[in-house]
Amino acid sequence: MKRIAIFASGNGTNAERIMAYFSTNNAVEIRLVLTNNPNAGVLQRAKKFGVATLIFTREELYKSDKVVDTLLNKEIDLVVLAGFLWLVPSSILKQFPDRIINIHPALLPKYGGKGMFGHHVHEAVIANKEKQSGITIHYVNEHYDEGNIIFQATCDISNGDTSDSLASKIHKLEYAHFPVVIEKLISAN
Ligand code: GAR
Repeated sequence: MKRIAIFASGNGTNAERIMAYFSTNNAVEIRLVLTNNPNAGVLQRAKKFGVATLIFTREELYKSDKVVDTLLNKEIDLVVLAGFLWLVPSSILKQFPDRIINIHPALLPKYGGKGMFGHHVHEAVIANKEKQSGITIHYVNEHYDEGNIIFQATCDISNGDTSDSLASKIHKLEYAHFPVVIEKLISAN
């Protein structure tokens, strides 16, 4: 049995797709959903799937062992960031080397870094008149969006696209690929 923890700060539609995808797989358990945001939609989505949740503060994440200890106690094999907006502290990186992955809604190394999340990414891509965007799934290190790339997929941007329409193209790519990439990674290790 492989155990996954998902970190999300917001709505959690990717987290929901991942929980749904693995709900019929006896070899993989989504064991915990963690968030820094007590109002995050992801909490209701986790409840729907009967997945345990943990809400933590900035202080608890960066100045205590509460989060890392919970991950260790729950024997987590893979940590998945799905719309999680804070840096992962080194205490967690050290315990989970090459076992923390993130999804980013653009083709890294472009359009990454601090402040580049959600609609900010899509607005920058549209403003620069890019012809393509896409998704990047990558390992997490101590810098925003800089770890080794595991997978990318692209979509075309048409003239009439707005940041909202691009966001929905990107979400479709994320839903199609993220659970499958997670499954491949977790069954290879
Ligand atoms: C996703 O598009 C994800 O790629 C992005 O936040 C969205 C979360 O949506 N992540 C980042 O921008 C990280 N820098 P969701 O809460 O509906 O899954």
